[in-house]
Amino acid sequence: MSDFEEKVRETLANPQNQGEMQDADSVGTVGSPDCGDMLRMWLKFTEKDGKKVIDRASFQSFGCQTAIAVASMATEMLKGKTAEEAAELNAQELSGDLGALPPMKIHCGQLVEGALKNALDQDAESSQPASNQGTSQTLASSMHQKPKGTLRIVPLED
Ligand code: FES
Repeated sequence: MSDFEEKVRETLANPQNQGEMQDADSVGTVGSPDCGDMLRMWLKFTEKDGKKVIDRASFQSFGCQTAIAVASMATEMLKGKTAEEAAELNAQELSGDLGALPPMKIHCGQLVEGALKNALDQDAESSQPASNQGTSQTLASSMHQKPKGTLRIVPLED
């Protein structure tokens, strides 16, 4: 077994941040055209030292084990990052301690990268000042799903 496979196995023994986040600020979903797998990522933001940063991230995967392992690494890595910093991370970087993704597994990492970018896009859209309704606009209303918790949209201040 390669180092990479060994690390994936270790990560899968105790995956981090798995599951739906009820109070998320944004959610991103992507499917892989290569294999048909799907991954969804939730982000919750907070304010730290006057900056809007990711407080926590979680994921649900209908994908392979590599995608789950990368998502586990990535959701840990994202804590404390600004949206801009998070948007710069590519699939290889998101894989963290797993090491370099083997060529056959690159699209698995890209699934995680895609879900993250999608969630960041959703957040950017929802952070646009709404002229008529302030903070009552929820992201969930645009996601064709019923909000289960209270969504709090934290506007970007710069
Ligand atoms: Fe498709 Fe890994 S095989 S995400």
